[in-house]
Amino acid sequence: MKGADLKLVMLGKRFGGNAGQTEALRDVNLEIRGGEFVTIVGPSGCGKSTLLSLVAGLEEPTTGWVAMDGHRVHGPGADRIVVFQDAALFPWLDVTGNVEFGLRVAGVPRKDRQQRVLEHLEMVQLEKFAHARVHELSGGMKQRVALARALVLRPRVLLMDEPFAALDVQIREEMQSVVQDLWVRSGTTTLFVTHDVREAAVLGDRIVVLSHRPGTVSAILENGARRPRTLNDAGVAEAIRRSNEILKAEVQWSSNQPKMQL
Ligand SMILES: Nc1ncnc2c1ncn2[C@@H]1O[C@H](COP(=O)(O)OP(=O)(O)OP(=O)(O)O)[C@@H](O)[C@H]1O
Ligand SMILES: [Mg+2]
Repeated sequence: MKGADLKLVMLGKRFGGNAGQTEALRDVNLEIRGGEFVTIVGPSGCGKSTLLSLVAGLEEPTTGWVAMDGHRVHGPGADRIVVFQDAALFPWLDVTGNVEFGLRVAGVPRKDRQQRVLEHLEMVQLEKFAHARVHELSGGMKQRVALARALVLRPRVLLMDEPFAALDVQIREEMQSVVQDLWVRSGTTTLFVTHDVREAAVLGDRIVVLSHRPGTVSAILENGARRPRTLNDAGVAEAIRRSNEILKAEVQWSSNQPKMQL
């Protein structure tokens, strides 16, 4: 199924009671076409994870709304899946059990389950590890399982929150290529949060730069380079340069503010 269109309209989120309120996001407006790959970067604590939680329906917005194919999002759903930095696999299940888990919950018949699991293990090149236990896997392999476990459910929107942040540079680059490959094959609308501007520029068709907190859209950069992209492409280098410029201004602004206890 084709990835869903997403629309974020005047989206805002505050946490906490009246006394110690934190405004995480303010007036975020963003339109994402079905099947698009959008990366999100922004200063630390600017509300990137909160933004994903709102799209996932794990948090309710304080103002504004999120719409998926024109329908307002209320609460989580199997059509939107989040992959976190920590793969959060089920340690009591093997690789197959982990990938199969959501299909079991959804009541997919055994034969279909087996076929879909195998297909997805092949996609992430883990078919040889189908019966490995979680503790036997490297960090990169765990994230591959997490990706397979998410995509096997055929989500219309895939949300990734710094999924490769804990991995070594080399594994990270490998995972960037895996994720691009999976995205091409699945056609899922993808929102990918990262601290790494280089990663954002390689992966994103558009790069959304958020401001310091409360996060709002500071700039949206179109990626000039065609896929498959590498760090050496002129368009990628330009996207990195421009993103860094905007981020630097945002961080500068934050560090010039008096420290407040919020
Ligand atoms: N459940 C919560 N309750 C209270 N405050 C929260 C909650 N979740 C996030 N916040 C606050 O909202 C702000 C934005 O947090 P968020 O985690 O979305 O930022 P981030 O951009 O993902 O940060 P990082 O770069 O560290 O990943 C922070 O000040 C954070 O402390
Ligand atoms: Mg975060």
